[in-house]
Amino acid sequence: MLYSIIVSPGLETIAREELSQRFDDTGHLKILERKPQRLLFQYTGDPRELFALRTAEHLFLVLKRIPKMTRSRSSLAALSGSLTRFNFKETFECCRQVGFSVRKRMPFRVTSRLSGKRNFRRADLQRVIEQALLKRGWYLTSGSSALDVWAEVHGDDGYISVKLSRNDMAQRPYKQAHIPASLKPTLAYSMVRLSRPHPDDVFLDAMCGAGTILLERALINRYRYLIGGDVSIDALDATITNFGRQHQPRQFFHWDARNLPLQPNTVDKIVCNLPFGETVGNVPQLTNLYRRCLKEYVRVLKPRGRMVLLTSQRTFLDDELQQLRFLKVGKQLTVDVRGKRAWIYVIHFT
Ligand SMILES: C[S@@+](CC[C@H](N)C(=O)[O-])C[C@H]1O[C@@H](n2cnc3c(N)ncnc32)[C@H](O)[C@@H]1O
Repeated sequence: MLYSIIVSPGLETIAREELSQRFDDTGHLKILERKPQRLLFQYTGDPRELFALRTAEHLFLVLKRIPKMTRSRSSLAALSGSLTRFNFKETFECCRQVGFSVRKRMPFRVTSRLSGKRNFRRADLQRVIEQALLKRGWYLTSGSSALDVWAEVHGDDGYISVKLSRNDMAQRPYKQAHIPASLKPTLAYSMVRLSRPHPDDVFLDAMCGAGTILLERALINRYRYLIGGDVSIDALDATITNFGRQHQPRQFFHWDARNLPLQPNTVDKIVCNLPFGETVGNVPQLTNLYRRCLKEYVRVLKPRGRMVLLTSQRTFLDDELQQLRFLKVGKQLTVDVRGKRAWIYVIHFT
């Protein structure tokens, strides 16, 4: 069966690594292509196992992929025509496995997406796919029993897929309490992966907000100790709520990250989503925050430790790193945070 996952912009490589790491050994996986925000792969195992992917926003079963879509309306006919005699047996089997109820007259709805210049509109794409399925005896509904059919045209590729994931694939059950500017769990997970988690890690997020990064770390594998802190009591309360009684040993502090009550050389990994300037308003304040936090992070990090920092204020971080010649940026990823461009820096000592 052909599947695709949708990931946040910039996380394609990490998602590919996750997919390989989880499923290469099973012999069921063959990754076919990496596209912007999308990975296409064949998987012959149980589709429910794919819901374990922590980088994925959505999981789709791809019914048809039409390469070489042109701008013309005739390529629309190729896409919809492919459904006319399509054998839904395997599709329905997969849908049943993930818990959908399948009927002969299948209730459905269509979502359409279009990018690039075309001689047809998104509404045209939607309509032809709806028509093709209505002709098969299916019926349109917006009810919860509807099969979510997606019709997409991006670049040269046309896809008709069924969305297998519900809205909670990228959401996590632990996230009960929220704070403004809280990080997406998929992004937090990706940052944690970049820290190369190890069972002996003392792991720190000194500006932990609602605790997303710490929780993603806790869920990856064993660790020696988790340390979190925040200057905001509300944020700390959210972390405590989201952790509940699980994931020991850990300790949370109400602190200012510019002055950490930690001994030098005691932390293996620091993963932190630095304030973007939405809450800490002006430039001098933000410069001061970045400078002093970085100084503290350098002080508490062990010589072979790693920092993974996320910021949209690239120049502030670059300016500070310029001063600290003994630090090396091993990797830098451009990502998207709430529609804003941001960068993940993976930093270690030279
Ligand atoms: C971008 S948010 C982090 C969000 C977090 N990663 C999450 O997913 O919920 C930044 C956090 O830094 C905290 N913060 C700002 N200045 C701080 C400081 N000087 N010391 C500690 N925390 C600080 C804010 O209270 C906020 O919770």
